Amino acid sequence: MEKVTLEQIFTYPTTQKHLKRSGIAHAISVAEYAYIFAKRFQVNPDHAAKAALLHDVGHYTWYRDGEWDYDQYQENDIHAIKGASRAHKLLIKIGEDRHAAKEIAVAILLHTDSYLPGELKLKPLQRVVALADEADEQSGGNHHYKTIEEHIALERIRALDKQITNELSNTQIKKSKETV
Ligand SMILES: [Fe+2]
Ligand SMILES: [Fe+2]
Repeated sequence: MEKVTLEQIFTYPTTQKHLKRSGIAHAISVAEYAYIFAKRFQVNPDHAAKAALLHDVGHYTWYRDGEWDYDQYQENDIHAIKGASRAHKLLIKIGEDRHAAKEIAVAILLHTDSYLPGELKLKPLQRVVALADEADEQSGGNHHYKTIEEHIALERIRALDKQITNELSNTQIKKSKETV
């Protein structure tokens, strides 16, 4: 089975619709951070970047009188829950491996603990996505309003796809050398 690429996920109309709401620039930066952190935590860079790209697809816009209402958001938001389910659905539609789709969805579910009663012990992939999100965070939620030109967004996604493919084939080569 051909690997589903970030580009396929990114250009999928449902992804575009939801990413526009939470910020394409933020999604791409978090995917890039996740790729870097994936090496440090020895997790699959493909899963990490996919979860990071989609981590905020569950966002709803909390506007009141044309302004973002932060209090309403804090009180009522369930974007991680919604995002996990949305991301899972679109990944399966695009043809993602079912096991990977589940791992990615759970990492999205746990990328924020704002709705959880206590601290969780995160698995490495989940930690990578949460850390990557934090790395791009700006005060007052400004990271959601960063802008990026469409062609630059696509270039960065393609560059990341290339890096991931190289990284995965290097890991494959290392593994096959170890078993010789
Ligand atoms: Fe989030
Ligand atoms: Fe985020």
